Amino acid sequence: MELVPLAQGFGVEVKGVSLLDVASDADAYKAVRAAFEEHSLLLFRDQNVADDIQVAYSRAFGPLELTKVASLGAGGFYSRLTNRGANGEIVPPTDRQVLVAQANALWHTDSSFKKIPALASVLTARVLPNEDGDTEFTSTRLAWERLPSDLQDRLKNSVATHSYANSRDQIHPDLANAEERRALPPVRWRLNWRNPTNDRRALYVASHAYAIDGMDDRDARQMLAQLLDEATRREFVYTHKWRTGDAVMWDNRAMLHRGRPWDYGKERTMVRTTISATDADGLNEVKPPVLH
Ligand code: OGA
Ligand code: MN
Repeated sequence: MELVPLAQGFGVEVKGVSLLDVASDADAYKAVRAAFEEHSLLLFRDQNVADDIQVAYSRAFGPLELTKVASLGAGGFYSRLTNRGANGEIVPPTDRQVLVAQANALWHTDSSFKKIPALASVLTARVLPNEDGDTEFTSTRLAWERLPSDLQDRLKNSVATHSYANSRDQIHPDLANAEERRALPPVRWRLNWRNPTNDRRALYVASHAYAIDGMDDRDARQMLAQLLDEATRREFVYTHKWRTGDAVMWDNRAMLHRGRPWDYGKERTMVRTTISATDADGLNEVKPPVLH
């Protein structure tokens, strides 16, 4: 296995090991798992990105998340991100599937709005437009390490509230429908996530976050916006330019990502599988004390 750096301080391209190797060989899994813990973002190029291979690879890392209500393929392993409709047509730019892509263009970490948040996501490129539609990544571990130590001390014990509706409402008031609002009530997480394998902390924020315990709402929103701005400063962002056959995996504990727009008249189809976090991944420490 060879690791080629992608960005300053995070991200590597993995060479010499395929998705299938990881699914079928314990040593390959161990090596890739160590690279994931260390580098937060992994790229595999020229893969056979069939659904079953993607699931076999993903489940080596832990339990798979089921897609939430009102998604394409709800209740299954595959999140299908596409602007191709059920009848094979490219959907109009006002369609919900395009609004979903626009919501993915807000800086976020996957599933911080769920009762069990995500350890990692695996995204594969199936059909790409000729240009644009990149995905951007930044390290919230490095962002945490850039914060002044007095702010780190304060944030170590701070708790933020995340909800699916909070990010969707920034795009369109109807994007989160009633069923989703019912199924996905707000959840609370500490503002930092410690990786138990290397003891490094990462800032845990996202467009889903909107409140901080013990803080006035406006101050909290301002603080969260400042933290997001700091984490996503241009010079710290890696832009992934997709090729078909790419598989990218990121650590949702230590990365923010966002999709970029493209010409919505052209097809872009991606498939995501998502691995749930467990206590072995530090989840127990991210849970705040229960409110009474
Ligand atoms: C995702 C996501 C952005 C993109 O799959 O979780 O945010 O560029 N994707 O498709
Ligand atoms: Mn995402």
